[in-house]
Amino acid sequence: MSDTTPATPEIAMSARNITRRYGAVVALADASMELRKGEVMGLVGDNGAGKSTFLKVLSGAVIPDAGDIRVGGELVNFRRPADALEAGIETVYQDLALVDTMSAVQNVYLGREELSKNPFLRLLNVVNDGGMRKRSREVLAELGVGIQSVNVSVKGMSGGQRQCLAIARALLWGRQIVILDEPTAALGVRESAQVLDLIGRLRDHGVSVILVSHNMQQLVTVADRVTVMRLGRSIATRDVADLTPETIVGLITGAIPADVATPEDTAAVVR
Ligand SMILES: Nc1ncnc2c1ncn2[C@@H]1O[C@H](COP(=O)(O)OP(=O)(O)OP(=O)(O)O)[C@@H](O)[C@H]1O
Ligand SMILES: [Mg+2]
Repeated sequence: MSDTTPATPEIAMSARNITRRYGAVVALADASMELRKGEVMGLVGDNGAGKSTFLKVLSGAVIPDAGDIRVGGELVNFRRPADALEAGIETVYQDLALVDTMSAVQNVYLGREELSKNPFLRLLNVVNDGGMRKRSREVLAELGVGIQSVNVSVKGMSGGQRQCLAIARALLWGRQIVILDEPTAALGVRESAQVLDLIGRLRDHGVSVILVSHNMQQLVTVADRVTVMRLGRSIATRDVADLTPETIVGLITGAIPADVATPEDTAAVVR
């Protein structure tokens, strides 16, 4: 191989020809995507294009009617969210996923409390509270998440802090793939910037990220590539270097033709 030949990117996860129907509604129609190792892949499309359904299929929350999913080249068959978690995939939903009355550290460890090192206490399922707190502090500091104390309840935290905490939890537990559904939708400018910065840090840690966003400016800033969905189909994937916010909008609306044949194209030919 010569120096000028680009290395083939390693694929963290791929989905091929995913179809999912809800009665007469085809939420996903032969949708495909490929997530490279250590990249941020933006997933865009109009309301109802199938983005959230696609993410739910990738995170084991929805079982597809057809199609293949591979993680690290291996065919997987997710039947429930725990299957995807086990494969190293963490999903952060917009309206998540934090328990108000619990502290930051309790939220980070929710459902996966580390057992105490003491073998007798372990038998009694006593959690290693000191260890959990220390590790939470380390991860939050590593990510630059500004939370005053990991011990206070998350009730009083801002939307940005809560989103950052959920992402930190994802990093702590699922280091390979993180799926984010509109993480900044409810946030102000400064908090959005914080979350975007955090997504960049995830990438610096070698984590691969799928990011759904309706904010084109944000996507061209933080994503490496973008996959566009239209009516349940994945119709184009482009490097961000080749895109402007306007071209993404054009691909979403159909003003710019799809890379694959779509039913609208066929209809146009028939007409
Ligand atoms: N549980 C469900 N039952 C019935 N129809 C559903 C269900 N989930 C999704 N759909 C339908 O599937 C299509 C795709 O929905 P989806 O939520 O994936 O879109 P989206 O791209 O995430 O949209 P948005 O940008 O508004 O979040 C829509 O027509 C939606 O109404
Ligand atoms: Mg959605």
